[in-house]
Formats: sequence, C-alpha cells, structure tokens
Amino acid sequence: LILNTFEEIEANMPHILIFPFPAQGHIKPMLCLAELLCQAGLQVTFLNTRHNHRRLNKLQDFSTRFPTLHFESISDGLPEDHPRNLLHFMDLVNSIKTVTKSLFRDLLISLSHKSDVPPVSCIIADGIMSFAIDVAEKMQIKVIIFRTISACCLWSYLCVPKFIDQHDRPYSFGSKQLEDPNFQFFVKETQVVTRASAVILNTFDTLESPVLSQMSPFLPKIYTIGPLHALWKTRIGNSSQLSSSDSNLREANSACMTWLDLQPLKSVIYVSFGSYLVLKGEELLEFWHGLKSSDKPFLWVLRQDNNNTISKELGFTLGTMGNGFIIDWAPQEEVLAHKSVGGFLTHCGWNSSLESMVAGVPMICWPKLPDQLVNSKWMSEVWKIGIDMKDICDRTTVEKMVRALMEDGDQRQEIMRSVDRNSKLASESVSHGGSSFINLDMLIEEIKT
Ligand code: UDX
Repeated sequence: LILNTFEEIEANMPHILIFPFPAQGHIKPMLCLAELLCQAGLQVTFLNTRHNHRRLNKLQDFSTRFPTLHFESISDGLPEDHPRNLLHFMDLVNSIKTVTKSLFRDLLISLSHKSDVPPVSCIIADGIMSFAIDVAEKMQIKVIIFRTISACCLWSYLCVPKFIDQHDRPYSFGSKQLEDPNFQFFVKETQVVTRASAVILNTFDTLESPVLSQMSPFLPKIYTIGPLHALWKTRIGNSSQLSSSDSNLREANSACMTWLDLQPLKSVIYVSFGSYLVLKGEELLEFWHGLKSSDKPFLWVLRQDNNNTISKELGFTLGTMGNGFIIDWAPQEEVLAHKSVGGFLTHCGWNSSLESMVAGVPMICWPKLPDQLVNSKWMSEVWKIGIDMKDICDRTTVEKMVRALMEDGDQRQEIMRSVDRNSKLASESVSHGGSSFINLDMLIEEIKT
C-alpha cells in the first residue's frame, strides 16, 4: 500500500528535465539545482551526453539520496576518443546541433509514453543550447533557461549586436574576440534567452544588483539562486556522502590535501585554469618560472589532457616540483577552503570565481574565454577582489602578481577587505531568508504551477 501511495505521488509530481551543455562547468551547477529541486519534492530527469554520463561515478549515491532524480543520456555525436576540450569546442557544438537535437526530441517523446513517470512539464535548458528551445516550443513544453555565466557577462553578450551596429565594441572584448567563431557562437546563443519563460542565474543579488536591474526589463523573469554550490550546502548539506562536487568528471587527487596540511597558514597560491582551457607549451613555462621565482608554495592543477606531450617534454611531472605540488585534478572546493591557501591564480571561469568568493580567497585573473574576460575586469575594477593579469603571460609579470597578492602589503590588505565583505554577502544570500534562498523557493513555485 505504501509503495502504491509513493508511486501515485510520484506520478503526480511535476516532471522537470534538466539539460546542461556537455562540459564540467555547466554540469556542476545544473546538477546542484537538480538535487535542490528533488529535495523540494519535484521529479527530475537529468540529461547528460553519454560520454559524460559514463564519467559520473556517484550515480548509486544520487539515486539512494534522491529517489526522484533520474538520469538519461544521449550521444553528443562525436566518436568516444574525440577530444572535447577548447581546441575542439566547435566540433562539439556542431555535432550536438545536428545529432543530439533529434535524439533529444526522441527522448522527450519516449518519456511522454512512459507509464511510471508523468510527461515532462518543464525543461531547464542550458542557455547555449538554443536547439532545446526549438524542440520544446514545437512540443509545447515550458522552457526555463539556465545561464552558467555571470550577470555582467550575460549583459555584455546581449549588448554586443547593438555595439556592432553602432560600429563600436564593448570594452571587455578585443577586436580579435569579435571575429572568433567561439565568441560569435556565445553571442548568438545568448539572444534566444528572450524566448524562455524565465532565466536562472548562478549569481547573487548583492554582487550584481546594478547589472541585474539594468537588464531585467529586457528579459523574462530572472531567478538569481547562486552561489549554487553554497546554496546546496545550506539546503542539502553533506548527506549520504554526497557533496556539491560529485558531478566531477575527473577523479580528484586527495594527496594534495596532505601536502596542504604541511604548508604555513595562507601561504599557498592555488593555480588552476578550469576544465577545458588548453595552455601552450610556452605559457606553461612562463607560469612555471614565475611561480618558482615568487618563492611561494604553489599547488598547480595541470590536467593531463592539457598538452600532455608538451608538458612531459618540458619535464613537468605530477607530485612535488620545486616549491610546488602538481596534480591532475583537485578537490577544488576543499582546496579553496583549506587554511593554507592564501590566493588563487585562475582563468576566472564563473564556477571557480564563485567558489573563490565563498571561500574568501583573493584572485589573480588570467582570462582566456570571452566570459572570463568580463569576469576578470569586474573582479579587479568593480568588486576589487582580484588582480587582472589580462592575457599577459610572462614570468616577470607572474612573479610580480603572485608577490603582490600573497605578501602582506597595502595591495593585499585592500583586496582582503573586499574579499571578506564579499564572502559574507555570498553566505548571507544562501542562508535562510537570503535572496538566493528565497528565489529558489519562488522558482520551485513557478515550476509547480
Ligand atoms: C567554463 C567557463 O569559463 C565558465 O565561466 C562557464 O560558466 C562554464 O564553462 P570551466 O573552464 O569549466 O568553465 O571553469 P569553471 O566555470 O571555473 O568550472 C570548473 C569547475 O571544475 C569548478 O566547479 C571547479 O571546482 C571544478 N574543478 C576545476 C575541480 O573540481 N578541480 C580542478 O582541478 C579544476
């Protein structure tokens, strides 16, 4: 009888399908949201590409903790051994537009014929997969867009066509950027946001209120529910051995935590350029020499898919090297929260930026992708929680920046004041009664109705 009742309840719950772009920085916040929606009693199908689905290793823990969370996977259309980093970004984009789009439609149809789940009533689609909106509109399913970038970046992308019409360019982007097919893709995809019923942003009001109020008249209802990894901690916590990082597609090296335990308080600079940037050999060398000459202990994530051959030829090995410790993949949230970590040399990916803000760690920003360029500018000029290295990459600059951030001078003290204030605001936004906490409840209400 109890089983029947549970099945009946499940059959009447709203059914949401969440579909992230197949990359680490997109899967992580969207899976955090999926868990939060299940926690609130909704039924969620989380759709991954097959390539990424195979790399999630906590599936059993997810289903134990969240019985209404289901996973589905479809092909991204690329051969299994095809690289899926930044150098091959457009291959992935073109392939999912052609192959994955029709598989997505087929999946929605098959879900609508299942007897044990209600048909999908709402799709939360990644904002750089406009084909999901096309499919949903044809099938008359409500769509909410999730953008994994900052509000300031979303606003910049939205403004680009206007700037181009006026023969001008937004100040964060160089003219080289405007010709880049990756950049054009991001800008074009962004324009579809107005077709959604609502927009979810992984940010918090007190961080980006001026830009949020500027763009809200042009967009559907915006739900700011970030930093999602921190909201996840408030509302779900460390239950059933799950953590907000369980969407990681790579296995983290936990030996670095023991190494960190041995370092003095706030002495370590953590270095990571995210999940899919690929550095050139000469860039690796400049960072290496700069870090070495800074004389500060450093923990460096050198992904093995990052020019593996070049990094081996240059003599990089995993483990201790000079004053540093090199690893393939870090338990980043734990690293940033460690008492020995005093700074973060980052590419300014939005997840990394939020994780650093929450942990109260100041940043040196070395941005590459368009969204990172905007974040980096805001970090240094608006929020004043980091130093912008722009695209400069030479050993002298690296050494100078690391010293400026890590040594206890005027610059560090000033940055730390903003960092501490910002970290407090981030925590408040995800606490009971905070803006992101409340906005999540409002989003759940909108989905339910
Ligand atoms: C890119 C974009 O730059 C980003 O702004 C966009 O929103 C998503 O795509 P990515 O290179 O993946 O992102 O960086 P980031 O957004 O910072 O996400 C990386 C994630 O991987 C973070 O959540 C970080 O904690 C995690 N990570 C990274 C690890 O867990 N271990 C590592 O060693 C490195």
